[in-house]
Amino acid sequence: MKKISIPLLLVLILAACSQQEHIYKIGVSQCSIGWWRSKVNNEMLAAQHLFDQDVKVEIVDCYDQSDDQIRQIDSLVESGIDLLVVAPNDYKIAPALKRTKDKGIPIVLFDRMVDSDDYTAFIGGSNVAIGSLAANYAAQLVAESEGNNVLEIAALQKTSPARERHQGFESAIKQHKEVNYRCIIGNWDDNHTHDILKKEIEEGRRPDIVFCHSDFMALGAHRAVAEAGLEQQVKVIGVDGLPNEGIEYVQKGWLVGTCVYPTHGEEIVRLALNILSGQPYERDNYLNILLITPENVDMISRYANEMMHQNEDLVVIQEKLENYFGLYHVQAKIIWVSVSAILLLIVAVILTWQGVRQTRRAHRRMKQLNKEQTQFYTNASHQLKTPLTLIAGPVKQLLEHNALKGDDRGLLEIVGRNVTQLESLVSNVLNFQREVQNTVSDDTAGVALPQSTSRAIVHESHLEMLNQEDTDELPNILIVEDNDDMRRYLRTLLADRFYVLEACDGQSGLRLARESVPDLIVSDVMMPVMDGLQLCKHLKEDFITSHIPVILLTARSEERQQMEGYESGADAYLTKPFSADLLVSRIYNLLDNRRQLRHLFDNSKQDQAPADVKLTTQDKLFMDQLKEAINSNMANPNLKMDELGEQLGISRVQLYRKVKTLTGLSPVELLRQMRLQKGKVLLNTTTKTVAEIAYEVGFNSSSYFANCFKKQFGKLPMEFRE
Ligand code: FRU
Repeated sequence: MKKISIPLLLVLILAACSQQEHIYKIGVSQCSIGWWRSKVNNEMLAAQHLFDQDVKVEIVDCYDQSDDQIRQIDSLVESGIDLLVVAPNDYKIAPALKRTKDKGIPIVLFDRMVDSDDYTAFIGGSNVAIGSLAANYAAQLVAESEGNNVLEIAALQKTSPARERHQGFESAIKQHKEVNYRCIIGNWDDNHTHDILKKEIEEGRRPDIVFCHSDFMALGAHRAVAEAGLEQQVKVIGVDGLPNEGIEYVQKGWLVGTCVYPTHGEEIVRLALNILSGQPYERDNYLNILLITPENVDMISRYANEMMHQNEDLVVIQEKLENYFGLYHVQAKIIWVSVSAILLLIVAVILTWQGVRQTRRAHRRMKQLNKEQTQFYTNASHQLKTPLTLIAGPVKQLLEHNALKGDDRGLLEIVGRNVTQLESLVSNVLNFQREVQNTVSDDTAGVALPQSTSRAIVHESHLEMLNQEDTDELPNILIVEDNDDMRRYLRTLLADRFYVLEACDGQSGLRLARESVPDLIVSDVMMPVMDGLQLCKHLKEDFITSHIPVILLTARSEERQQMEGYESGADAYLTKPFSADLLVSRIYNLLDNRRQLRHLFDNSKQDQAPADVKLTTQDKLFMDQLKEAINSNMANPNLKMDELGEQLGISRVQLYRKVKTLTGLSPVELLRQMRLQKGKVLLNTTTKTVAEIAYEVGFNSSSYFANCFKKQFGKLPMEFRE
């Protein structure tokens, strides 16, 4: 939803920004030129911005050629006009109007008509009314003068105004019986009219009144009248009534009257807009007509001139407006382009930001996947290495024992070779994995798949033996390993050299270690419940077990993880698959080190302690506390070591195992030795009797003290004093 909304919003904003008011395009097809046409054209152009809605008026002229007008109408329609305004040249153009109408484009006829119904509305002066207006005026003039000959020189009859003016004139003039009416059909041309009238006069048919269908034609008629010197006798009436044409002629006395044939281009545009915007309109719109005579010509001339000048001003304003709108549109476009660019930029920034976020997320996912993969490989390798060790070790042992001969031995050797190959394959896979994964995951987080349920395996009989404080027994080794096979294999390896205890996870291993205080612990690292690293840490923190050497076994051969092992206090670290010999020799080595440690607690031999053998602070603390307890209770001949152990918070077994390991002596032996040592010191530094000293260091009898002293130091106490 969020993702779609941004582009959608942008589109909407851009649409809103770029949406300019639609300007209607009005195509005007003019049929001719002349003053009347110029006036109506100017009025239409001036009206483009006159109404609520602007329009664009485009005018083309066919110069009285109907075929040209047909073509022009078709191409106007083709250019995408919204409405067609036509002054049809003649009835011939009807098919072009039909085509326009069929395309759904409304048509406004003005001035002239066609004899089809293919138009939306008509606007113009009524030519029939013009004809009858002129006829009535002519009759009035007849009544005022002597002559009653009225001649109508009609225009081209295939044009509607000519036909209608004639109809109007003829029917009105015939009402006046006193009038002698004649009609000659001509065309719209002034010279042609001139020639007709000239001929009439020359042939003795001089009219008293001449009605011409336009002021232009009337001008030709006037010329003929003037040439014949009949200006006083023949009166000419025209049509159109324009300021610089008919009105002027009336003022000059060339014409006795002219009928104003209204132009009103602005009304044409108004009608067109009403049609386009769905407003109500009349289909036939007849404009007011007016008769101009010498009586009213001056007044009308003033008004007409004023109006004409106003219209000229309007055209100037209109041109300025056009320029202004042009500029405005350019500026508006620049603004919209800028706004759009800014919006696009914002969207681009947002999209880029989203992209970056997605890439980061994908990267994180990849990293996580890599981590999980590494985890999987590590676990898998652990799983693989354990059974491999369990195959390789026993095979090697069997081969070394020489128990098998011949084919059996050969087969076993094949097994041995292939196991070695498998081991190297596993190592290769691990190495390859390590190279590929730059982001080495922390596989300490990995939990080995549980291979057996956690249970403590305690050798009860062995514990009993420990309680008997058998000093000659073999070293005790605790194996902590969750894999049953691996544990069994380790036991097989070690059982004939050591006393073996077993636990199947870190927690039970820790409990057993505290109970039995073994001489050494061999532990796996990856185990359920508590892993080897944690086990090791707990062992080293507890002063009961802190002295016990720990060997960690694991499939992880990474240096970093080995360091972790040492940090947890491990004394040695063997990676699987390991050789049995190496394990045994590491065990002996560590036990030996531990033995050497005893010198640290033997005041007489402290200088013999090897430099690299270190005592943990826990062990030192324990020994200090124990010695202090012995020293302060030494005078008590019934002193029991168990009681001292209780004071230190450890059991008899724990005390025995710990003291034995650290000093090589049982607690009882240590007590006796300390008593004798103290006795030796007292012999040297005081004048007390041997008996006094014997009692002071806790011997019941001085003879027993003397016996023991001789055994320990090779001399009797008295001999020693001397
Ligand atoms: C101009 C004109 C006018 C006349 C009108 C009739 O072309 O001849 O003089 O009144 O057309 O359509």
